[in-house]
Amino acid sequence: MPGAVTRPEIAATTALCGIFLHPAGHTRSPAMHNAAYAALGIDAVYLAFDVAPAQLGAAIAGARAIGVRQLAISIPHKQAVIAHLDRVDDTARAIGAVNTVTRVGSELVGSNTDWLGIARALEREAQLAGKLAVVLGAGGTARAALYALRERGARAIVLNRTPGKAEALAAELGAERAGPLEELAAIPHDVLINTTSVGLRSEASPVAAEALRAGSVVLDAVYDPLETRLLRDARALGAKGVSGKWMLVEQAREQLRLWCGHDIDASVMAEAFDRSSPS
Ligand code: ATR
Repeated sequence: MPGAVTRPEIAATTALCGIFLHPAGHTRSPAMHNAAYAALGIDAVYLAFDVAPAQLGAAIAGARAIGVRQLAISIPHKQAVIAHLDRVDDTARAIGAVNTVTRVGSELVGSNTDWLGIARALEREAQLAGKLAVVLGAGGTARAALYALRERGARAIVLNRTPGKAEALAAELGAERAGPLEELAAIPHDVLINTTSVGLRSEASPVAAEALRAGSVVLDAVYDPLETRLLRDARALGAKGVSGKWMLVEQAREQLRLWCGHDIDASVMAEAFDRSSPS
């Protein structure tokens, strides 16, 4: 396999990490993390576990009992997992979701790296301080996006199909205001982040191409397909498109740093992402 590095042989000392998700779907996280372990010579292995919601408590207790070092927590467990942990850090508490559980001494600590994934993915193309950003959507990913924008000193507006949800989110996470998706055309934005699921395995876009702006930076959290209609529309009129792949890679890099302190080059995880084909 081109670009692949051989990992150390699995032995008695090998650490176990993994991802909890449900239903079992395709996840690129094992490919990305195992590639990072191999590249850095870390004696660990990363597996995917299909954990039904009713089994989450038992699964966390099991992970605790056998000394799992780190777990990524994916849909639908990001909020429910909080009840099963010893501690949740301030960032995860503010976002209201945990995507990472790390063993620290004898404790399982919840944190959130999704927001940093969003910030760093955008920062591939632009600095965020003082910029006007629009977040499309009002779910969990929108919460992480608003936190990222606040941390980086950007101004934020939330637009959602159901504007009432966007209003509640704007008030809680410091956005200037909220509205329906159709308002985008009237907002002279520098940054656009799509956190809705529109475009996932479809040719749809959450907003009309005419509402996009030349010179802006557009991040699509959807990464299947890699080039969504939104990103194509954005590039066609002179905006910079950032694939959700970079969000996933950057949040995973931070997870690795949290449990073992190593910084992996983003390209190692990005290449592993590219090699792992969707189901
Ligand atoms: P996540 O945790 O990934 O953010 P979520 O909490 O399920 O996912 O949120 C999904 C978001 O996509 C919501 O903002 C939802 O809009 P509503 O609040 O109006 O439900 C948005 N969404 C889903 N399907 C949509 C569609 N067909 N058109 C517009 N927005 C859509």
